[in-house]
Amino acid sequence: MMVRTHGLLLALAVTCGCAGVAFAADGGTKIDGQVAFNNNCRTCHSMDAGDNRLGPNLAGIIGRKAGAAEGYGYSSAFQGADFSWDADRLDAFIADPNSVVPGNNMKPYAGIVDKAVRAAILAHLKAL
Ligand code: HEC
Repeated sequence: MMVRTHGLLLALAVTCGCAGVAFAADGGTKIDGQVAFNNNCRTCHSMDAGDNRLGPNLAGIIGRKAGAAEGYGYSSAFQGADFSWDADRLDAFIADPNSVVPGNNMKPYAGIVDKAVRAAILAHLKAL
């Protein structure tokens, strides 16, 4: 039997300790952080250190200094960024890049409105 209540699914997420899994606002849809990353970010970003593509690699991005991937040619907007990425800053950035680093060159990328999708991607990035 399949019981799909909000509480049960959340309880399962906590007890199984699954990394990179979040739930959509309706509580019933499981969002896989790896899949969400692949769909929204992987065209331009690798998670492997040293592997810069259209965008810089994102290895260990949480806690990393902004604009600091070795060998990547950042825009002047990022060269002037003086902070390290934490989860809140990263969440705001993938919601609306210009609100965090005005004039950046992460284009064409429209931002992700759905908080649950952003949460799944962040959990995935943290788990790596
Ligand atoms: C269309 C290509 C593209 C897509 C899609 C994209 N990015 Fe980017 N991203 C870039 C580029 C280009 C930069 C560098 C911007 C600059 O130099 O101004 C960047 C920069 C970044 C940075 C700053 C890295 C640093 O070293 O400070 C982060 C974090 C980031 N992207 C995360 C993401 C995430 C997470 C996603 C998916 C939700 C994503 N990006 C989707 C192209 C992209």
